[in-house]
Amino acid sequence: MNFASSKWIWNSATATANTVVGLRKDFTPPLGKSLIAAEIIVTVYTSLTFYVNGVYIGSGNEPSPRPRFARRFCVDLLPSFNVFAFNASTSSSGANDGALIASILLTYSDGTKDTLVTDSSWRVKSAPPLGFEQLSFDDTTWPVATVVGSYGVAPWDTVLVDIPADPPVLGLEHTEWVWTDVVPASGTLPAGSRAFRRTFPLAPGQVPQTATILITADNSYTLYVNGVTIGSGSNFKVAQKYTVNFASAPTELVLAVLATNSAASVAGLLVAMEVNMVPTGRTSCTAGAFVLSDPGWKSTKGAIPAGFEQPGFDDSAWPAVAGEATYPATPWGTVTIAAPSSITI
Ligand SMILES: *[C@@H]1O[C@H](CO)[C@@H](O)[C@H](O)[C@H]1NC(C)=O
Repeated sequence: MNFASSKWIWNSATATANTVVGLRKDFTPPLGKSLIAAEIIVTVYTSLTFYVNGVYIGSGNEPSPRPRFARRFCVDLLPSFNVFAFNASTSSSGANDGALIASILLTYSDGTKDTLVTDSSWRVKSAPPLGFEQLSFDDTTWPVATVVGSYGVAPWDTVLVDIPADPPVLGLEHTEWVWTDVVPASGTLPAGSRAFRRTFPLAPGQVPQTATILITADNSYTLYVNGVTIGSGSNFKVAQKYTVNFASAPTELVLAVLATNSAASVAGLLVAMEVNMVPTGRTSCTAGAFVLSDPGWKSTKGAIPAGFEQPGFDDSAWPAVAGEATYPATPWGTVTIAAPSSITI
């Protein structure tokens, strides 16, 4: 699946900060065809909630400055009429770039497939009323979508969708080297250890199966997933590759990293993760998401708090990290990826 034929859409070409819009696509299959399922890839600037036939499927908040990865969902459909609906909003800053892009691969009972893409046939309304996501809601008076750009154009550029490769192909491209909230222009940061966290909430009914994680740090790191030590490394030119298999069914994934700058110098942390989830009751498709090191991560500069790696730790007062360079930019350049290792937690 890809976004090649999809358009970025919104309610107008000039989105403002804190705009909430409802986006809907009603779909009835051609005569004689019966729908079974859909796989959906979607991303937004900057947050969304997704419903199919009024049922909540998932949500996502893509950290600024730009969405760089797509959410992937897989759902069962009704045989005939179906409604795909998004409640999407722009952030309080970065006003002018509100946009959503999606591609929906439909499977019929006879095995044939069809693709729906975001385009000017969708209905979009600002401040949608309660219940707009329901099957019974009548959107015929809603304005049609404004196409604000084709896939690949500025300011949204290319979203990372290396899917559905089997096995998934996860690279470091698009990933940012990050460190604590303030990085001086010189890049020189004090020696010492810093704690980093990123929480990824799982949509209801999405059970994580595996996560593939690429990680390296200048100068060293220890990685934890949901409080369990996964591994460590101390050569920023080599990223480790971990496959984490989930024996339990956690409702969120918490990545925590203790990273150390061994002497006053440049310092950075680089992480890319792809999560594969199996929706409850389905076996033939997976849902997934990418989580990259970017300003969606948090970090603290003080003493390392006890238990910072645990899922329940409260990091709400921690500031967002600062992005320093997008891989493979200087000063770190190209990183090689070590042979994978596997762990079950
Ligand atoms: C849409 O999402 C916003 C939050 O982004 C929320 O305040 C609003 O109530 C939602 N609207 C509907 C109709 O669900």
